[in-house]
Amino acid sequence: MEEAVRKLLEAATGEVAALGDDLKALEQLRVRYLGRKGEVAQLFKQLGKVSEADRPAVGKVLNEAKVSLENLLEQAQNRLKESASQRRERFDVTVPGRKPLRGRLHPITQTAQEVSRIFNWLGFDAVEGPEVELDYYNFEALNIPKDHPARDMQDTFYISEDVVLRTHTSPLQVRVMEKRKPPIRIIAPGRTYRCDSDVTHTPMFHQVEGLLVGDDISFGDLKGILTTFVHQMFGSGVGLRFRPSFFPFTEPSAEVDIQCVMCGGKGCRVCSHTGWLEILGSGMVDPEVFKMVGYDPEKVTGFAFGMGIERIAMLKFGIDDLRLFYENDLRFLKQF
Ligand code: PHE
Repeated sequence: MEEAVRKLLEAATGEVAALGDDLKALEQLRVRYLGRKGEVAQLFKQLGKVSEADRPAVGKVLNEAKVSLENLLEQAQNRLKESASQRRERFDVTVPGRKPLRGRLHPITQTAQEVSRIFNWLGFDAVEGPEVELDYYNFEALNIPKDHPARDMQDTFYISEDVVLRTHTSPLQVRVMEKRKPPIRIIAPGRTYRCDSDVTHTPMFHQVEGLLVGDDISFGDLKGILTTFVHQMFGSGVGLRFRPSFFPFTEPSAEVDIQCVMCGGKGCRVCSHTGWLEILGSGMVDPEVFKMVGYDPEKVTGFAFGMGIERIAMLKFGIDDLRLFYENDLRFLKQF
């Protein structure tokens, strides 16, 4: 009998040690050894067969075995519960995750892409050209001779006598027409440079140029395309007006104003209390420009336009300081 008890304890100790961290298996062990019909209970049953003289001693051994089994299992249970809660501390699935920082496009890039998307939808293909440009493409071929007073409209960074940082994207008009025959329907987004720096001007900024050339293109087509663009970009309720203007490479020329997006046209600080905001320059391609690229101005007509991306982005997002675009402050950039 005592031998049987010793073996039982030994077996139980081994099994508990081999449990790992399975609480269910521990419970099964407890039932098997200490349950009502468990192994210990079976041994107690046999107590009746032990001689009366030996019974007290054997009973004591059995009782001690029962207590030490109970202790063994309880300790195992505490150990398992503790390690389970430690694990839960390490991997608490209920703790909110740490969000990884998500990268995003700069508001200027977003705006340029939105402008491109609208004009692509209208059938315009995007082209690119050099930012370091020949004086010829930036000025002369656009009907701005060297001594022309219109050069004063744009403060130019000169690289050399004949090379400049392009002051607008209009040289793309000439580059594209030199290479292709009409019909032409392109836009040209990109960086532009002017020697100018204050609250409303940065030496580098962005423009999108547009050019459409073909048979019988009229000022009505220009109005239709630009009206559609404005309504897509700012909403179909936004009013716009075409105001006569001057550019050496378009005739007639017009600047486009939209109803102030801040005050809805009532007049505020942003629109200098006029209710209107200028957003782009445009006009019918000047016959002189067609001649420069070898087109017959009697046969083809077209229109061009150019707009500043920063300006569009400021109006679209309600930003009132141009410099915010270039400070790369994440608190600002994260908002778009
Ligand atoms: N290039 C002109 C500017 O930068 C804008 C413009 C483009 C005007 C095309 C007419 C036609 O001011």
